[in-house]
Amino acid sequence: MLEGKFILVGVTGGIAAYKAAEVVSRLRKLRADVHVVMTKEAAHFIAPLTLQSLSANPVHVEMFTEPKLWNVEHIALAERADAVVVVPATANIIAKMAVGLADDLLSTVLLAVRSPLFVAPAMNHWMYHHSATQENLRCLTERSVHMIGPAEGFQACGTDGDGRMSEPEEIVAELERFFQSQTWLKGKRVLVTAGGTQEPLDPVRYIGNRSSGRMGYAIAQALQEAGAETVLISAPTSLHPPSQVLHVPVMTALEMRDEVIKRFPEADVVVKAAAVADYRPAVQSEQKIKKQGDKLQLELIPNPDILAELGRSKNGQILVGFAAETEELIKHAQEKMHRKNVDLLVANDVTKPGAGFGSPTNIVSFLFPDGRRIDLPQQEKLEIARRLVREIAVLLGVKEEN
Ligand code: PMT
Repeated sequence: MLEGKFILVGVTGGIAAYKAAEVVSRLRKLRADVHVVMTKEAAHFIAPLTLQSLSANPVHVEMFTEPKLWNVEHIALAERADAVVVVPATANIIAKMAVGLADDLLSTVLLAVRSPLFVAPAMNHWMYHHSATQENLRCLTERSVHMIGPAEGFQACGTDGDGRMSEPEEIVAELERFFQSQTWLKGKRVLVTAGGTQEPLDPVRYIGNRSSGRMGYAIAQALQEAGAETVLISAPTSLHPPSQVLHVPVMTALEMRDEVIKRFPEADVVVKAAAVADYRPAVQSEQKIKKQGDKLQLELIPNPDILAELGRSKNGQILVGFAAETEELIKHAQEKMHRKNVDLLVANDVTKPGAGFGSPTNIVSFLFPDGRRIDLPQQEKLEIARRLVREIAVLLGVKEEN
């Protein structure tokens, strides 16, 4: 998968910098075209000459020396990269990436990069758990940076815990998996729904729910990474849709239904992450409803159940549903999976801290009609989305189970 790929390896100043040599060597053995940019601090831990010999390419350290490649070196390096991997990534470079600082060659290259970006954090356990570092890591993950590790174990500073850099073998395997996954859903058409529908009462008010759209947008991002032709049918959110995805904005459950049903015959997969209102006001007032007396009674009528409708009419498509539950998660989710005839159901208990509506993370279980179940720990929604895409690829028969 890596043959001929231009892989830019960023090396920063941590004790794990010596392991960058093995990463470079393994990449070269897999016939990648490896180029190294290192910080001056990294050069205290490992000699540029070592990385130059292993990569068989000039190593770049200084911003203002004679360019070794093209005129504007940092832009040229960033533009040619098929992937960039920072090994090790210190707390400092992670913070600089999070805020967009460009005060040396590596941080400037990282700001100009448009290819997939991988980061292998390596630092003292307490530095890793500092809320500033955690916020910076979350910020990068939300921008689709791939995190590799860190691993747990003994650290050079004498502590024991997480913060150790992942092993070179694991880092290279992650890059291989990524390039492999980019082809999984090539040529497949996928519909994703996201956000919470809004059901108008009058020109200024609506009945809505707490969905931020984060889960659905993360799924669209992961599908795009896997090469799928992705349509994101989204209720109102404050998020930016991923760049290659066709974004179809809708407001109500009825509008969402129309867009989904229209596109369903052409789709290979539908993922229904949206929180769809089960009921809508029977009457939508043309004027703002005036305050009147002590009580205001609203009459609600049912909305169509879009997923159930797809489940009845599907013709070879893979259907992925969600279940947002507040009690007896698995029992209720299983009931929904069978009733709506879906092929994979993602169950989340939305009362758990770190799960469900609005949160950057989620805690989910994947349920399958054959009784299989995969419980995932609390993770960023994008990580869950990438895992979901793997399962979809298995259901489509384009990837083997692992
Ligand atoms: O958007 P976030 O803030 O990131 O939050 C994520 C989430 C909590 C919204 C998401 O993880 C989630 O659980 N989405 C489904 C929410 C929901 O409506 O669940 P439900 O159990 O009520 O519905 C079950 C399934 O039927 C869902 O796939 C839903 O899209 C679908 N449905 C529901 C009602 C309806 N009228 N039509 C539908 O298609």
